[in-house]
Amino acid sequence: MDVAAVRKLIPATQKSMYLNTGWSGPSPQPVIDAIVNAVRHENEEGPTTPPIAEANRAAKPKVREAYAQFLGVTPEEITLTGNTTHGLNLVLSGMTWREGDELITTDLEHGSGFVPAYNLRARYGINVRIVSLGALDGVDTIVGRLKAAITPRTRVILLSHIMYTTGLLMPLHDINRMAHETGVQVLVDGAQTFGQIPLDLDALECDYYAGPGHKWLLGPEGTGALYVRRDLLPSLQPAAVSSHAALNWDNAGHFEPASGSSEKFELTSSNVPMLLGVIAAIDFLQGIGGMPAVQQRWQGLTERLRQRLSTVPGVAVTSPPTGPTASGLVTFTVAGWEPRPLVTALWDREKVCIRAVPFPAGVRASVDFFNTEDEMDRLAGIVATLAKEGPAA
Ligand SMILES: Cc1ncc(COP(=O)(O)O)c(C=O)c1O
Repeated sequence: MDVAAVRKLIPATQKSMYLNTGWSGPSPQPVIDAIVNAVRHENEEGPTTPPIAEANRAAKPKVREAYAQFLGVTPEEITLTGNTTHGLNLVLSGMTWREGDELITTDLEHGSGFVPAYNLRARYGINVRIVSLGALDGVDTIVGRLKAAITPRTRVILLSHIMYTTGLLMPLHDINRMAHETGVQVLVDGAQTFGQIPLDLDALECDYYAGPGHKWLLGPEGTGALYVRRDLLPSLQPAAVSSHAALNWDNAGHFEPASGSSEKFELTSSNVPMLLGVIAAIDFLQGIGGMPAVQQRWQGLTERLRQRLSTVPGVAVTSPPTGPTASGLVTFTVAGWEPRPLVTALWDREKVCIRAVPFPAGVRASVDFFNTEDEMDRLAGIVATLAKEGPAA
């Protein structure tokens, strides 16, 4: 990959050391152009004029197809969503819950996993069982702990594929297999994986998988996709519906539900320029070598960052070590510093855009293909200086 050329196409990389793709990624120029040109064209021509209306009608199938190809599934299994959280909620609220049913999750989830689970508990009286995971846990330990939590009342395991706090990459295929052997379904929070690692949801034997367009995919905010395996679609009930949820309906009371359609969750109008931005974002990633090339870049860069940080007195990396459970997220602590003031100091001193995370608390660097070796070295250097100085009194 010609990193210098790629960086020139991502304007934000010229302005700061951008290490926060796991929150929201900086869009490349072709993505920005696709969105801006579409907004301008649509509004200059008139949004419902026949040529624009026709182009807009074609946008949804196109983006569904783009996500499907990217994720190794079929377009009929893709629902277009506003973000990851939206997709997770569509599944959890679409299932039928009885008091005493159980949902298993882990102690490393984002609020977008915990709060919908707690909401089901408050609403239906289900039990939420939380499994503890450590950064050094290997594949067998992780699968074993989740398996041990399953009871005859367990309906679903809800977990992130990559944990947003420590960056732990979960052995999803093993988890899916183990869960399916006991008749339990798995709902995956893919907020940190779309555009970070190669994904083949069919080969991973997934049931449900939700992800965003705006993080590692580098597309616009307000976009995302939910995968529901074809045979599971009819049993999920959409909580909010539009005519997309009907095969037929009329004004005399007739309604034939489109129960097997992934579009039944989608409401009426959508933001077409943003959808075109997603297509441009997927095209961009494919154009620079696709997911293997992206993954190879962050693997090399994170290894370098870990090595540099390991030489700084007072710094501890809380992410898993390089290996099958490591990802592009590297989280660390600095003795004497709380994560938030450290994040502020990194921005104030050197325009490092990075974030603090809880459980376990730390500063998280999201390392993507567009970051550079020099940035890894500079980050470790600034951290070393701040570690020595300590926070201002
Ligand atoms: C693991 C995880 N889940 C969910 C979310 C929320 O994502 P979204 O804004 O796509 O709903 C995030 C955001 O950082 C996340 O890291």
